[in-house]
Amino acid sequence: MNQTSEISEKQSPIHREIDGNVTFNNVSFRYPGTEVNVLNNISFKVSAGQTVAIVGTTGSGKTTLTKLISRLYDIHSGQIEIDGIDIKDYAFHSLRDQISYIEQDIFLFSKNVMDNILFGRDASEDAVIQAAKDAQAHDFIIKLPQGYETSVGERGVQLSGGERQRIAIARAFLSNPKILILDDSTSAIDSETEEKIQIAISRILKGRTTFIITHRLSQIRWADKILVLANGKIIAQGSHEDLLRTCEEYRKIFVTRFDKTLEELLEVQA
Ligand SMILES: Nc1ncnc2c1ncn2[C@@H]1O[C@H](COP(=O)(O)OP(=O)(O)OP(=O)(O)O)[C@@H](O)[C@H]1O
Ligand SMILES: [Mg+2]
Repeated sequence: MNQTSEISEKQSPIHREIDGNVTFNNVSFRYPGTEVNVLNNISFKVSAGQTVAIVGTTGSGKTTLTKLISRLYDIHSGQIEIDGIDIKDYAFHSLRDQISYIEQDIFLFSKNVMDNILFGRDASEDAVIQAAKDAQAHDFIIKLPQGYETSVGERGVQLSGGERQRIAIARAFLSNPKILILDDSTSAIDSETEEKIQIAISRILKGRTTFIITHRLSQIRWADKILVLANGKIIAQGSHEDLLRTCEEYRKIFVTRFDKTLEELLEVQA
């Protein structure tokens, strides 16, 4: 919260509905109070409605990169544009109302499921239930002791990683952002849950620009573009197939993870 307040809104900022074209021009960034850049000369272009997958080892800067899009931090050099307009020219709420995050660690309030999906928003009960259905969450919610009235979070029922993620996707359906960022670290979920999450994600990304941080092949395959990060730099970008053929680091992610040869991986793609 304190960090956010250091960033100031320009005078007469722009209020507008965004389409979701995102451009990074030579962006470098270090966290306030630190000396070392965690992102260096990041450049890429995404058109409205596209899905971008971001892959890379732990600490390579994936989460940081996505935090810059809604201007949670100001960058040191370069430029970030949405629809060709510098994000520094936008009103804060124009950015933040239209960009949603599904965080790496999904936070649930010690409140009931309904309130956790509403997340402070105004919406009818029907709208919440529809969002939960779209997010493939309705079925497990109605099986909870008090359904949508069940308390969750610290003082309530503990939900699994896969369930929390679907609650977060339901939140995103309600907020209907133009840009969605999904920091997907949920590992070790059973294949049935995985399939439900895939359905939920494939629905939520329609009609919006989506950044997905993931190593799941099932999600990467939908991506229009993949950014491969290493030590704060983009070392390659392109389609899954191109990268499998041309980028050794990219190939390593899948060859070691799934114990497959390049030929087998390309077959999966086909
Ligand atoms: N708030 C912060 N202040 C200072 N340094 C930070 C902060 N958050 C992250 N970093 C540093 O920035 C670098 C990139 O971190 P980031 O969280 O973006 O990596 P990541 O690719 O998302 O990793 P992971 O796969 O583990 O989620 C790391 O070296 C990390 O230690
Ligand atoms: Mg991260």
